[in-house]
Amino acid sequence: HVFKLEDYRPSDYLVPRISLDFRLSPDATRVTTVLTVERRQGVTAAAPLVLDGDGLTLLDIAIEGHALAPAEYQATPERLTIPTPAAQRFELRLETEIAPSSNEALTGLYRSNNVYCTQCEAEGFRRITYFLDRPDILSVYTVRIEAAHSEAPLLLSNGNPVESGVLADGRHYAVWHDPFPKPSYLFALVAGALGKVAGSFTTMSGREVQLGIYVEPGKERLAGYAMDALKRSMKWDEEVFGREYDLDVFNIVAVSDFNMGAMENKGLNVFNDKYVLADEETATDADFANIEAIIAHEYFHNWTGNRITCRDWFQLCLKEGLTVYRDHEFSADQRSRAVKRIAEVRTLRAHQFPEDQGPLAHPVRPRRYREINNFYTATVYEKGSEVVRMIRTILGSEAFRAGMDLYFERHDGQAATIEEFLKVFEDVTGRDLAQFALWYHQAGTPNLTVSSSYNAAAKAFTLEIEQSVPPTPSESRKRLMHIPLAFGLVGAGGKPVAWAAVEGATVEDGVIHVRKRRHVVHFSGVSERPAVSLNRGFSAPITLSVQQKADDQFFLASHDSDSFSRWQAFNTLLTDALIAAFRQVLGDKEPAFAARLAELAGRIAGDETLEPAYRALALSLPGESDIARDIGKGIDPDAIFAAREALARTIAAANREVFSALYDSLADKGPFTPDAASAGRRALRNILLDYLSLLPEGAALAAAHFRGATNMTDRAAALTVLAHRHAGARQAEEALATFETRYRGDALVLDKWFQIQAGVPGARTVEKVRALTQHPAFSIANPNRVRALIGTFSSANQTGFHRADGQGYRFFAETVLEVEKRNPQVAARLATALRSWRSLEPIRQDKARQALLQIANADNLSADLRDIVERTLA
Ligand code: ARG
Ligand code: ZN
Repeated sequence: HVFKLEDYRPSDYLVPRISLDFRLSPDATRVTTVLTVERRQGVTAAAPLVLDGDGLTLLDIAIEGHALAPAEYQATPERLTIPTPAAQRFELRLETEIAPSSNEALTGLYRSNNVYCTQCEAEGFRRITYFLDRPDILSVYTVRIEAAHSEAPLLLSNGNPVESGVLADGRHYAVWHDPFPKPSYLFALVAGALGKVAGSFTTMSGREVQLGIYVEPGKERLAGYAMDALKRSMKWDEEVFGREYDLDVFNIVAVSDFNMGAMENKGLNVFNDKYVLADEETATDADFANIEAIIAHEYFHNWTGNRITCRDWFQLCLKEGLTVYRDHEFSADQRSRAVKRIAEVRTLRAHQFPEDQGPLAHPVRPRRYREINNFYTATVYEKGSEVVRMIRTILGSEAFRAGMDLYFERHDGQAATIEEFLKVFEDVTGRDLAQFALWYHQAGTPNLTVSSSYNAAAKAFTLEIEQSVPPTPSESRKRLMHIPLAFGLVGAGGKPVAWAAVEGATVEDGVIHVRKRRHVVHFSGVSERPAVSLNRGFSAPITLSVQQKADDQFFLASHDSDSFSRWQAFNTLLTDALIAAFRQVLGDKEPAFAARLAELAGRIAGDETLEPAYRALALSLPGESDIARDIGKGIDPDAIFAAREALARTIAAANREVFSALYDSLADKGPFTPDAASAGRRALRNILLDYLSLLPEGAALAAAHFRGATNMTDRAAALTVLAHRHAGARQAEEALATFETRYRGDALVLDKWFQIQAGVPGARTVEKVRALTQHPAFSIANPNRVRALIGTFSSANQTGFHRADGQGYRFFAETVLEVEKRNPQVAARLATALRSWRSLEPIRQDKARQALLQIANADNLSADLRDIVERTLA
């Protein structure tokens, strides 16, 4: 079945109130649901009530206390129909029974590590009880949970606790009430034996909120950083968006079996434990940064997602794109804005660009889906965030804030749409955002082709800009977009070059508003020839084709005052050199690089005016898949690897002294702190290690780094260098064994060990990964294990996965099918690793297609996996 945006219509019935009573037991949990059902005004009395289910068994049904006769309803596992409910308003009582312990799909009510927990977004609530399981049905929830005290001393749900007590036979109960009407996807229940970290936060109006983070008993001390991040998030949302928390309690639970990162259930966020638990011994700086960002993201959903939710799932970006934008801004304020922006753009290009440029491309607001779980994508999240950022760029930050204020005021308590979101900005500014709205409606990454010329005699500078939006599946003809292109004219020494007048496009506050197919933008009164810095701050999520002299790129890489564009200039030089080297490798030539490129790398490394984290980002070469994406077609991953390796060696050899002196000077004197500045120094030192490890004695240096490490960032970095650069060497084998022994029993840390080994370049890794699936710490049922081993191999190991004989793909197809027997969502996500198969060279392309067909032809394919594989092959 294909769901279509234009088919949306409000439901005939509403459910203003729901009460749920859970009698928990692993194999037979009884759920009693009492719904207050109301026929919507104006709907005919003959309208049937149709509730969603998924694999349910109905045990009992009554209306207003009277059991229904078999003729009065139809119940299947997927649907409960009451053909003619007699009253306009009535109470419907249902009883269902579910088996949490055999729920391996990890959606609905399931058990993780003996803890009962739920995941209802998008359509998991219907696996618990029959309901109008759609986001525009907002209900006030009262939840009673009853369980054996020995099994579940802790009983949590949404909202505020109202009552609890002891029952006979060692059982107990708790009642929770959430006064804020919410859709079913935000329902949550957690019950089990968990340790608690308590905190409190006083809101801007002076209310005290009790904070709780619940973790596996014994791991409480690993939740301190998450608690601190939560408090900082609460404060930030008050200061920057004027948003205050609204319940008496805010709880977070960390579980070890979770399909995604985390979930924003009202007042009870449920997290993948990987994004809660951290200390210097077990977590890297990247882990700390992710925890901070995801804690903030889920907290921010309280306003953008929960208080204002989505009318239907086509509007997913209304909450996700906006909330990602908010968490990006939070991290930028907590850390380094310049560094954060570069990291965001790298992520967008690595994940969203290939999606937008391949068979799974879809608009930020899709119009069609078969399986909504497959639309929690980089396009909806990351490009969705970029679209919100562009609104701010176009309107300015004051008008943006005014629009957001109006959004919260106008739509609080509602299930809203993208049109309503855009309308608040139109209303506060009086501007028409119709052309801009195409960013939500049109898939594909727009491209701007730009060329420039300078006429010294006339003091005239001209930019010719042409836009195109490539065709994407089911959208062959595209309309012209409104692209805010931030730019600068850069003169000698990096000084901005002034102009007297400009015509050919609207230019305001350093932004050219590209709206037509072609603009010829004339700047007059320009007294020197400038280098042009384009898409500053990555003002629009586009690709650029610029005819620019390498001299200008080198100049901008040293002098651009916009730190993003300065990074970009150097990154473009590296990419161009790598693409040229790739062609040389394909032509059986030794790749050669301009000496000034390696020199510039050395200068950036040692430039004390730049933050260490920034220098580390500049020095990390474009990844193999980034290079592949920029080449576009005929991809031979082995040739890309050889080209990248050659450049890394050239840079290392040319900068040996500078790099090693700097490496020594950056040695951490402790004590460990996870702040951004310290993390930046570690990042720089570790990237220098990566280069130095390519020189003679490199393995010994990395082994010493590994032995001397006093935190996980350095330890994991050294282990990666040893395993990836010195695979098979004695030092690498020893370090892997040491790490395994040391962290045996700590599943999250062993994930790093799986991940590092799954990423070892080369043809032999597939056998190693296959063998590791038999390791006692591996489990095909646990999403974190699967992502660490299989996910890393298939999406982050270009030479290993794309082995020329197709063995990587075959292993992959078998494993995806194995995973999907238990967990279709995780399998479907894994399967997206082959989305760029058409850009491969013909031999690999054919083998990748065989693997996709092998999956497509399997029996009893889930809707999730079928959807991905069929779209990928289409
Ligand atoms: N709303 C959650 C978040 O972004 C993610 C839920 C993902 N759900 C899914 N079915 N994939 O914070
Ligand atoms: Zn989210």
